Formats: sequence, structure tokens, C-alpha cells
Amino acid sequence: MRVVVVGATGAVGTEVLRILEERNFPVDELVPVASPRSIGRKLEFGGAEVEVAGLRPEVFDGADIAIFDVSEDLSSEWAPVAAERGAVVIDKSSAFRMDDEVPLVVPEINADQVRNRPKGIIATPNCTTTAMVMPLAPLHREWTVNRLVVATYQAASGSGQPGTDELWEQTQLAAKEPEAVREGRAGDVIKGGGTFVHPLALNVLPKCGSVREDGYTSEELKLCHETRKILGIPDLKATATCVRVPVVTGHGVSAHAEFDSDVSVDRAREILAASPGVELADDVDNDVYPTPLDAANQDPCFVGRIRKDLFDDRALEFFSVGDNLRKGAALNAVQIAELLL
Ligand SMILES: NC(=O)c1ccc[n+]([C@@H]2O[C@H](COP(=O)([O-])OP(=O)(O)OC[C@H]3O[C@@H](n4cnc5c(N)ncnc54)[C@H](OP(=O)(O)O)[C@@H]3O)[C@@H](O)[C@H]2O)c1
Repeated sequence: MRVVVVGATGAVGTEVLRILEERNFPVDELVPVASPRSIGRKLEFGGAEVEVAGLRPEVFDGADIAIFDVSEDLSSEWAPVAAERGAVVIDKSSAFRMDDEVPLVVPEINADQVRNRPKGIIATPNCTTTAMVMPLAPLHREWTVNRLVVATYQAASGSGQPGTDELWEQTQLAAKEPEAVREGRAGDVIKGGGTFVHPLALNVLPKCGSVREDGYTSEELKLCHETRKILGIPDLKATATCVRVPVVTGHGVSAHAEFDSDVSVDRAREILAASPGVELADDVDNDVYPTPLDAANQDPCFVGRIRKDLFDDRALEFFSVGDNLRKGAALNAVQIAELLL
């Protein structure tokens, strides 16, 4: 297969190349594409060096699959070009996720949707959505979810390689000036204004994405709307608060889910333990629960802290964590590519 990876040098693109290799995806020719500043750079793939190409219509000629790991703007412009030239596009950006003619796919949940792609484009969800729907979907199949209240704990790498670099740099600067941090002068030492407006190191930022008139952020709306589309519940009452935390990789989600019928914690555990792509980490007495450090570089989404709402027999609380660069992005894209084989 001729596989084009657009954004091959970025946080997600780098992981896509790794996962294609790890899973022995049948690549005959890999074409890594990135911005003009990376053209000619050599990347390791399949034991050889491949040269990064620029984004031109001709790179998609003869391509079977084009995996897009670039910004929404670039995907909007170039994914249709790739599809027009015959490639099936798997897009990681938010450009097409809510398009009625583009399926939004998590293979463990709605794999059958990959065939329904009139535009030749398949979208993969936001990384936080994936970490939440992976455990929610099997619970929904059992009891039918009707209301969702979510808070997220999102890693810096969710904002790409620049976000990760910024967190490391700030963390090292802050470690050199503990007094400034303790005395409330952290802003003198670690400046925001890069990927994140405020310093992220040793901090928590309750705003991810851009803000709408009603006060919700783009990330919060993605989480709500994408969940509705993936689960096929257009009227699901979902609300979210998305928070950036000083974690390198691994998005955490605290969810309150209300269902149509009474729930049981034991049955929830049984269902989740048997769900592909989900790993139960739920023994709080022994300090077993999902954490981003444990989830980093792992394929499954981890779920724990499962308990019933104190006042509602139809509601469950749970905490899930997924590696935003793997299942939240690259792995999900490669799994979709595998469905196309
Ligand atoms: N990070 C996550 O956890 C995550 C999860 C789910 C979805 N996503 C989505 O995945 C996409 C990629 O995110 P990322 O985190 O990997 O971003 P990133 O680390 O900033 O990487 C961006 C990539 O785009 C390339 N690029 C920039 N301008 C270009 C141009 N004019 N032509 C061709 N390539 C260009 C960059 O190439 P250079 O290296 O040459 O600059 C780089 O390879 C975004 O839509 C993001 O929302 C990210």
C-alpha cells in the first residue's frame, strides 16, 4: 500500500509512523509530508530512511490511504484534494468530524461506519472524546445513557509538540526558582503566551480551545457533540468543563453518566473488563485507579473509580484515562486503516 502521512513530523504524525511499524501495517511505500521547513528531512521507517515531502496535490497520486495529522485549516483544504486523487483519507483534525457525510469512527464502537464515506474521508474523534466514549459506549449498550456531566484533565501534548516543549521548559525553569513559585511570583519565572496563555507548569488552566459567546470552549463542545455522533444519540444531554493540566501525555476524564435504568457497579465492572480496548483499573482500596503516567504509551483506555451516584440509582461516576497521542489519535487512525484492508 502507498500510505501518505500528512504532518508526519508532528506529535501525532510521529506516533502514526511508530504504530504503523509496530502493527506491521502493510506499507509498500510511505510518503511523509510536512511543512516547508521539514522538506528533505530524513525519517526512520521500516528500517530505512524516508525523505519528508512538501504538501502538493501530486503526493496523493496513487495513494491508497492518506492519514492527516495537521491543523483543521490544512485538513479542510487538503483532505478533499487527497480524496479526489483516490486516497481514502483518515483525518485527525476537527475539520470534518461533524460533517453528516463523514463518519466519525472509533473501531471498537462503530467500525461498520467506515464503509459509509461518500466524501472518501473518515474522521477520528478528539482525543478527550475517545478517552471517555471507550468506557461509556459499552455501559450505554447495557443501560442507555441520557445525560452526561464531564470534567477533563488534559495533557500538554494534546496541544501538539509545541505544547509539550513548553511544559518541559516551564517545569525546568520553575524547579530552579522554588521561592518564586511559593511566593506567588511564578509568573516572573515562567511566562505564558506561547501555546498556553498562562504558565502551565505547576498550574491548572480551566480553558482548552477557543471560547464561544455562551462561555463554552471549542474543546467542550467537541466532547459533547462528538459523543452524540459516535453513540448515535443526537439528543444526548451532555455538558463538559475541559481543563489543561501539567501532564505530558494522557488525558483524564471524570464522568457522571445517567442512564434509562438502574445501574450496578459490579455489572459495570464486568462489562468494562470484557470490553475490547478498555482496561479496568478499579481497586481503590489498594490504590489501583487510572493515571496518565500509567496510561502513557499504552493502547487501552483505563477506567476506574466506578461508583454509583450517592442519590441516583440510575447514575454512575467513573474516571478514565487514555494516551491522547495513541488511542486518542494515532492508534485510532491506524486501526481505521486496518479496517480498510
Ligand atoms: N496532540 C494530540 O493529542 C491530538 C489528539 C487528537 C487529535 N489531534 C489533532 O491532530 C492534528 C495534529 O496535531 P499534532 O498534535 O500532531 O500537532 P503538531 O505536533 O503541531 O504537528 C503539526 C504537523 O503539521 C505539519 N504542518 C504544519 N504546517 C504545515 C504545512 N503548511 N504543510 C504541511 N504540513 C504542515 C507540521 O510539520 P513541521 O514539523 O514541518 O512543522 C507537523 O508535522 C491536529 O488537528 C490536532 O488537533 C491531536
